[in-house]
Formats: sequence, structure tokens, C-alpha cells
Amino acid sequence: MSNTDNKTLKAAGLARASGPTIADTLQADGNPPPAPLLESHYEFLGDNDIPTSRYTSAEFEQQEMQKLWPKAWQWACREEHIPDAGDSYVYDIGNYSIIIVRVDEHTINAYLNSCTHRGTRLLAEEGSNYSPGFSCPFHGWSWQVDGTLNPLPGQWDFPHVANGSHNLQAVKCEQWGGFVFFNIDPEAKPLADYLDVLPEHFSHFPLDRRRIKVHVQKILPANWKAAQEAFMEAYHNFETHDSPTGANAQYDIFGKYVSRFIHNIGNYSPQSLSDYPGDKWREPPLTEQQLLEMLAIEDRVLAEGETARSVAAQTMRDTMSSSLGVDLSTCSDSIMLDSIEYHLFPNMFFFPGIAIPMVYRFRPMGNDVDHCIFDMMILEPLAEGASHPEPPEPIKLSVEQSYTEAEALGWLGSIYDEDTGNLQLQQQGFKTTRKGLTLGNYQEARIRRVHLTLEEFLGSH
Ligand code: FES
Ligand SMILES: [Fe+2]
Repeated sequence: MSNTDNKTLKAAGLARASGPTIADTLQADGNPPPAPLLESHYEFLGDNDIPTSRYTSAEFEQQEMQKLWPKAWQWACREEHIPDAGDSYVYDIGNYSIIIVRVDEHTINAYLNSCTHRGTRLLAEEGSNYSPGFSCPFHGWSWQVDGTLNPLPGQWDFPHVANGSHNLQAVKCEQWGGFVFFNIDPEAKPLADYLDVLPEHFSHFPLDRRRIKVHVQKILPANWKAAQEAFMEAYHNFETHDSPTGANAQYDIFGKYVSRFIHNIGNYSPQSLSDYPGDKWREPPLTEQQLLEMLAIEDRVLAEGETARSVAAQTMRDTMSSSLGVDLSTCSDSIMLDSIEYHLFPNMFFFPGIAIPMVYRFRPMGNDVDHCIFDMMILEPLAEGASHPEPPEPIKLSVEQSYTEAEALGWLGSIYDEDTGNLQLQQQGFKTTRKGLTLGNYQEARIRRVHLTLEEFLGSH
């Protein structure tokens, strides 16, 4: 039952913050963006509350463990984690553990990380490994990298183990954008069916031509969904980040599995701030010169008609083109500057931007409904013709540690502390409230899209 009556239902979701839209800003940029960034796709998806039990109940977590994680495509690692034949990468998701292995230059396989004798986990640690094959620490069964079982210790006792019957258990494996995906479900549809617009949109911003500059993995004190939802809207910018930007962000739903937001950097809409209580942002509008200073460019006086966005984008083009050895001259202002974030169901985020070039992945920590593992990587453009360097080891942060302890994050550390600083309070609040989560029709529609698709997985798969 909707909270909205039939009369207002027609208009639900159509309201927007006052002031210019993202499309207005992007079209006004000196270097306009490629077509995908000018598209917009929104549909009203309902306004019912989301039950808190989805974030707190062990039973719901078990449903996800049975019907979501073994059925959904997920990326385990980047291709550069396994550059040579025999390189492997272990990825754990809840009860499941997967081995990704490079068999040869053109073949990457995935297996369940479990012995076909009596089930022992084969590779103990998550992350990178190298071995010319796999062997079990219990009775010494072993396999080649293509999964073929080698002759057994005490073969005489196993006449029933022959003809490929006990090879490693294969899991579907595909690649996109330099990421290695797997799906445990033997009946799973191809990855392309889930990627929707991603291959087309990212053909303008190829992620396979990026390298991992930083990888930070942190434990967060909240359910994996609550944690990722803290990154799906810019509505929190005013309070959480004390920032005047975000009200005019654009939100797109591209289907059941893919959504996006575009949030401009280097401008804001004073008109839209009148929608918010208090005087904090009711001061005279920031000048373009002040906006440029907010972007940490303090020694450049703007000429008549210049905008903070165009000057900041050009400054970045110049400095990053030479520091990265990449030609960024054709990159639009928006790709240079903006926070553009695509979400792929259930738990993955890809940013095509240059200054904000992240990848996120959220997953449950074992079977603990109250904690999750948040992997974030910064993916830097790779110089033309260069091969991928060895990826950095993840910087691992405990639930108590601050992101500022990951020095490689620089100024971003305190931003991630702000983004994750409310999670424990939210997870606690879920347990005391009488009501569910209420979502904004537009700004929080991506969160609802994830829940609707999750319902499909739990209900009918
Ligand atoms: S359980 Fe693996 S060899 Fe026996
Ligand atoms: Fe944020």
C-alpha cells in the first residue's frame, strides 16, 4: 500500500530541487561531455518504507546467503592481480570462497575454494597467491591450474575417482573493464545481461586502462546495505559533509541492476539551498573565485567570463596529463571534475571520473549482520601502451581505525570518515525504531531500486 494517494501519485517523483540541473551545467561547460552523461532515466518506484529487519535480522541475512550471493555476479579482483599463468586470487563472500586463477594469457577460471575429497578449504587466505597448481593440506590431493585432478596419494583405494569426476568445481567467470567477475550459480545468465548500459557508457571511459593506485579495505559497523546506501545519494552532503553542494545532483535508474548519480564539483546552486532549514547556507552566493578556492586553486585570478569549473578542469588536465603520461586533452570538464557514480547490483560502484576515480565494493563480514567489509580503490588512468604495474597490497583498517590512518588517501581520508561516521548510530537506531526507512522519491530512488531487485532474488530465484 502506497503512502501516496492516487491524485498525488501521478506527480510523485517529479519534483526537483530549484536551480539549474546537471544537464544545464554540463551543457554550459566549455568542454561538453560524451552523450551518456547527458542522458537521464528516472522512474518513480514507490514510496513504502523499507523494513529495518532487512538490516538487522539473522533470518534475512540467511536468505541473502542462500539466494543472493550464490546467484549474483560479483567482481573478485582486477585482472592485474593475476597477470601470469598460475597466479590466483581468493575472494570470500559470506559462507563462500572462490579461487580465481589465470590458466593462460587468454583464460581465467574460477573454482569453489574447497577440496573435492572431504571438503577442506584449499587456499586459506583471501588475496593473491602464486602456485603452479593447488593442493589440499589434509591428504594431499592436488590439481592443475585448469582444475584437473592429479594422480591421488593411495590411488588404489579410490577406483571411483576417475575420468574428471573430482576436478575442482568450476564457477562461471567473465571479465569486464579489467575486473574479474564470477557467479556461483551454474544457471546464471551471462554477465552482459546484468551490466545493462555499463559497457556502452564506459566505452568512453575504459576502466581496463586504469591501474590501482590505492586499495583500502575497512570493516564498517553496519549491515552491508546500510553502508553502501550511505554512498548512493548526495542528500547527506549538507549535514554529514557540511557542504553546500549536492541538492542538484542527478539520479538515474537504468534498469534493475544499474543506477547512477552525477554530482557537480566546482559549482552549486544557491537557489536550491532555500529548500533547507537554517541560515547556514543563506549567505550571499559564493563567487566563481570563491568556488575556485574551494577546489584548492588559490593563486589563480579568474578573468571576466571564466568559471571555476572550466579553470579547475583545465588545471587538472594540464597537471594530470603530465604526471600520468596520459593525454586528457579531450576529457570533458565533467569527467575531469565531477563525482559520477554507477552502481551495479548488488554491491559494486564504478566511477568514470578522473579526479574522482573510485571503485567500491560492500559485502557482509561472514554472517555478521552488523558489520561489513568495504573495499575502495582509486583507479588511475594508465599511460598509453604501458602495461599494468603490480597492484598495491590493500591497506586494512579495523572498525575502530580512521581513514586518515591510510595516508595514501590524503585529504579523502577525512571525507570517508564523515561518510562512514554515522553508520554505527544508524545500525543501532534500526534496532530501536518502530518504523522502517523512509526514502526520498528522487534522491534516494537508487536505494529503492536495489531493494526491489533484492526482493526479486529472495522471492523467486
Ligand atoms: S580433504 Fe582434501 S585431500 Fe582430503
Ligand atoms: Fe558523502
